[in-house]
Amino acid sequence: MQATLLVVDDDRDIREIIRQVAEIKDYEVIEAEDATVGLEKMRTMAPDLSILDVGLPGGIDGVELCQQIHEISPQHPVLIISGQATPEKAVEALKHGAFDYLGKPLNLEKLMLLVDRALSNVATAREIERVSDERKAVYGFDRLIGSCKQMEQVKDTGRKVAAVPSATVLLTGESGTGKELVAHAIHLASPNADKPFVEVNCAAMPEQLLEAELFGYEKGAFTDAKQRKRGLFEVASGGTFFLDEIGEMPLNLQVKLLKVIEERTFRRVGGTQPLQMKFRLIAATNAQLMEQIEQGKFRRDLYYRLAVFSIHLPPLRERNHDTVTIAQHFVDKFNREFGKSIKGIAPDAERLLISYNWPGNIRELRNAIERAVLIGAGPYIQSADLAILPMQDSPTPSKASMPEQDIDAMMMNANDGFQIDVPQNGVNMEEVEKQLIRIAMRHCHNNASAAARFLRMTRETLRYRLKKYGIREEIET
Ligand SMILES: Nc1ncnc2c1ncn2[C@@H]1O[C@H](COP(=O)(O)OP(=O)(O)OP(=O)(O)O)[C@@H](O)[C@H]1O
Ligand SMILES: [Mg+2]
Repeated sequence: MQATLLVVDDDRDIREIIRQVAEIKDYEVIEAEDATVGLEKMRTMAPDLSILDVGLPGGIDGVELCQQIHEISPQHPVLIISGQATPEKAVEALKHGAFDYLGKPLNLEKLMLLVDRALSNVATAREIERVSDERKAVYGFDRLIGSCKQMEQVKDTGRKVAAVPSATVLLTGESGTGKELVAHAIHLASPNADKPFVEVNCAAMPEQLLEAELFGYEKGAFTDAKQRKRGLFEVASGGTFFLDEIGEMPLNLQVKLLKVIEERTFRRVGGTQPLQMKFRLIAATNAQLMEQIEQGKFRRDLYYRLAVFSIHLPPLRERNHDTVTIAQHFVDKFNREFGKSIKGIAPDAERLLISYNWPGNIRELRNAIERAVLIGAGPYIQSADLAILPMQDSPTPSKASMPEQDIDAMMMNANDGFQIDVPQNGVNMEEVEKQLIRIAMRHCHNNASAAARFLRMTRETLRYRLKKYGIREEIET
């Protein structure tokens, strides 16, 4: 390891001898004969470690110097050396932030051993800090791009619950809105960030397997249980357990989970000994749990237990201005990944990003931008690169009929359980009705009776509207 040592001692011979042994190890040595010069070199040359003599000329001794150095660099390792090696001095030095104390005459071997160890501790601490900063940058709340009011609220609540490691959290929101990202962020912002984060998707496996995975089992609990197995609840000990798609959890298991939360204990399958629930539970769902409760598919009591802190992730279509910011963030990301240098997003493509309704939310946006960066030839992403169909081409639809592909996009959404995208500056209700009727007529091959059924209106009402909007004429010509 290459490192620079600052040696402050008024005794030239001592400085020289430390230099000689240090240089054998490839360390660079900076010398200073008193505290003032030492501080100056500390500031200008930023050494990695300092060796300070206690008795220095000029009024500032080594212990005081150690304190002043720590004002400049709090973590800087300092080794104190002294001719008057008394236990009191040693204690004083350690109290003032030195990592060790060595008497003179110096045992050079020991000196270098202490230096090596201190430097390697610093390197490890730096590495840990770097890694955890990286993890935070990758998964922390800072990674949640967007500044709309709803997202600010998400981050604010998220940070608050993170601080309480026993609090259960329910994350709701459509697919691709960032629930998993928030779950990671809560974990990383909690005091237990260095403990495990365990994740299980309730939709991914059949009931019995899911139960065995979560709770673990004792040998002989069932035919395949050849050996005792720890459950993931145990693996998550001290950390966070993320139960994704909780809406898919079978009712039987919901009862068992409720019991875990209420009693804060659980047992392995086939086991008798209660184990402590030592993790924070975060559950997520993109389903309408309230509807599922009405239908008897989800237990109300479990819902209330989970939703002590409930965080709702807004769909992207409600975050119009964030869409462009997030898109730009993905442009930068994929530029780096693919070694491209797309400068940004052209205005028409921006408009398309804002008007589109993003059923797949940020995941869909991410994919669209990934593709656009990959295939984009020009300096700016054009709307054609985005491969998405606009819901509303312009904020105020013109009287002219919509292009074919727009109608298809609306059709798709109408079939999809109905989603209407409302542009920022409002819509013309009549225009919406007109477009809907056009879609219905197209869908029903211009059969007015079928279209009326499709729109749940009487034939008379439809006929009246067709006439009002002049749609018949459009069809017939
Ligand atoms: N605010 C955000 N800023 C930047 N990227 C985001 C943001 N929210 C989500 N993403 C990214 O969008 C993608 C989807 O997010 P995530 O997997 O967290 O969604 P989800 O809500 O868990 O979806 P699903 O319900 O389908 O599991 C991920 O790549 C994630 O990193
Ligand atoms: Mg998810």
